[in-house]
Amino acid sequence: MRVREVIRDLPASRIGEIAALGMGDPAVIPLWYGEGDLPTPAFIGAAATAALQAGHTFYTYKAGLPELRAAIADYLTGLHQRPIRAERVLVSSSGMTALMLMAQALIDEGDNLVILAPVWPNIAAAVRVMGGEPRLVSLDPLPGGGWRLDPERLFAACDSRTRGIFVNSPSNPTGWVISAEEIAALFAFARRRGLWLVADEVYSRIVYGNRQAPSFLDQAEPEDRLIAVNSFSKNWAMTGWRLGWMTMPTDLLPVIEKLVEFNTSGSPTFLQHAAIAAIRDGESFIEQFVARCRAARDVAIDGLNACRRVEVARPEGAFYAFFRVAGMTDSLAFAKEALRHAKVGLAPGSAFGPMGEGYIRLCFARDPRQVGEAVDRLRPLLD
Ligand SMILES: Cc1ncc(COP(=O)(O)O)c(C=O)c1O
Repeated sequence: MRVREVIRDLPASRIGEIAALGMGDPAVIPLWYGEGDLPTPAFIGAAATAALQAGHTFYTYKAGLPELRAAIADYLTGLHQRPIRAERVLVSSSGMTALMLMAQALIDEGDNLVILAPVWPNIAAAVRVMGGEPRLVSLDPLPGGGWRLDPERLFAACDSRTRGIFVNSPSNPTGWVISAEEIAALFAFARRRGLWLVADEVYSRIVYGNRQAPSFLDQAEPEDRLIAVNSFSKNWAMTGWRLGWMTMPTDLLPVIEKLVEFNTSGSPTFLQHAAIAAIRDGESFIEQFVARCRAARDVAIDGLNACRRVEVARPEGAFYAFFRVAGMTDSLAFAKEALRHAKVGLAPGSAFGPMGEGYIRLCFARDPRQVGEAVDRLRPLLD
């Protein structure tokens, strides 16, 4: 069968490979994917049912329901202390679709996107689908398990075919959180060079310190070449709904809107009505969810750190433990072994770029007792 070469050669997800081996086995504790065990809050589901029954089942605005765009703009304005107008917000059918739309709009064959890594593999795949080069630049691993950004190395990776710089903070998989000073340095460089900044902020509310996660939207002028990607998936336990949004300068929005027509032709109308309820009334859910994640994080990190071969820092944000295992050189083989012998589903570090080899990712967005049991089961493999 003839298909485009870049599509034929796209690597299959290594996270999916592990999940496919263990899916459907009730004995497995599934910590492979980036989602929790809580269903979507009932008030959001009820809003979807009501919208369905009220007949919101027709084609709708490509950029999203005006009322939802306004609700997102209000939410962002409240978070970032800068007015963000609804004209800069476009509703997408998931964060993933937002990333694909970004790649379709920016990446020509031979262009590159400089990507801070280790990183969720789908962003690199989106660039590859367009015939571009995902250029991964690693954070520096610190002794004790943390990570640090070297902005100069990121800038040195940019050349004449670079269209932009991609940063995911809080990071999947490392939990690293960018600082306000680092954001300012990236803006200064990108403005000088006429590059796009793509900020993946889907975990922006999932942070464990006393402060909010610094955001590119805290510092962006409305006309800056910034695309900030967000999602309903993580904050409101809506992974299966496939809804997200993008914030961008107003002159890019009609371009993305045109692309929406040829991708999804708009996001499901009744789901968008429910998303309004999520964003307006979901704060207490987020608070409880983050508190539960914090408890599970501490169980996971304390348990892992007690294992002789493990090195891991307490992540500041997102909901993953990304731990290094001394002596492990094949994380895919290790994840298969953990599935077979410990019945715990994990993601191999190599899924997140070559610099992720030697690491394992464990998603702790679940009942802390179950996370504790998973770590207990893993101990014989990690001591
Ligand atoms: C860093 C990052 N960006 C974007 C997404 C996309 O989320 P969704 O497509 O469910 O909105 C994910 C999901 O795991 C993610 O981890």
